[in-house]
Amino acid sequence: MFEASPLSEYPKPLQYLTMATVFFEPSTRTRLSFETAIQNLGGQLLTVENASISSSDKKGESLEDTIKTLNAYADGIILRHPEIGSVDRAAAISKVPIISGGDGGGEHPTQALLELYTIQKIKSKVDGLKVGIVGDLKHSRSHHSLIKLLSIYDVELYLIAPKVIALPEEQLAELKKLGVKYRVLDGWDDVIGELDVLYCNRIQKERFKFIEDYQAVKDKYILNIQTARKMKKDAIILDPLPRINEIDPRVDTDPRAKYFDAVKNGLYVRMAVLDYIFAS
Ligand code: NCD
Repeated sequence: MFEASPLSEYPKPLQYLTMATVFFEPSTRTRLSFETAIQNLGGQLLTVENASISSSDKKGESLEDTIKTLNAYADGIILRHPEIGSVDRAAAISKVPIISGGDGGGEHPTQALLELYTIQKIKSKVDGLKVGIVGDLKHSRSHHSLIKLLSIYDVELYLIAPKVIALPEEQLAELKKLGVKYRVLDGWDDVIGELDVLYCNRIQKERFKFIEDYQAVKDKYILNIQTARKMKKDAIILDPLPRINEIDPRVDTDPRAKYFDAVKNGLYVRMAVLDYIFAS
């Protein structure tokens, strides 16, 4: 007898439902974890990868018309699109739920949920933690969404970035309004030894207007073994991935490096999101 596959053990809240994953920007983890989640929960899958080339977007169709069309086939849509606000635009006209897979340099809410789940699971708490967020705070949607989500908790945020890619003023103003404890820093030397969590992300090359600006900051923060040595013994290192060169691959075997463990958590969290929305 074969051992029962875990797949058969999951409840099937998506049985008889069709989910569409429509990605206008590249993705490995977000799309594939959503697609695995959909299938684990018994749903039918429609997938449009490279939507900017393979859908009628290429012919000039508006996002709104694409979404109206998908409403005829799908009971839910997972959308990734390069424009900030695109997911809200889609949600405003869609008759079926739209789940964000990331809107340009805006937000990436399910990524934040999986990082939060990973932090909570390892540290058994979120309140009281010192969290360093380092890199491209201007363009990284993963950074934006985690900062927003952590603002609900009693954390101390260390926002580490050079001025040209610092967190946008409106987002800082929001943190102020919410009374979140935060510090804006240009380097990590003074704080690296105090952090409970370090959240890295690649510098988002494709979002820069001028390539020279990217070149000037692309290697500003690289977490290598020497720097990791300065971190607390029980700190955790996260990165939404893809990793470009913000973390030296030799750090991967450090027990504090949790970015690949978080990938698996992404599957469970996206299953939970789908179950929350669609289980009747
Ligand atoms: C991120 C994204 O696409 O925003 N990756 C992801 O979804 N896991 C991060 C990135 O592209 O740098």
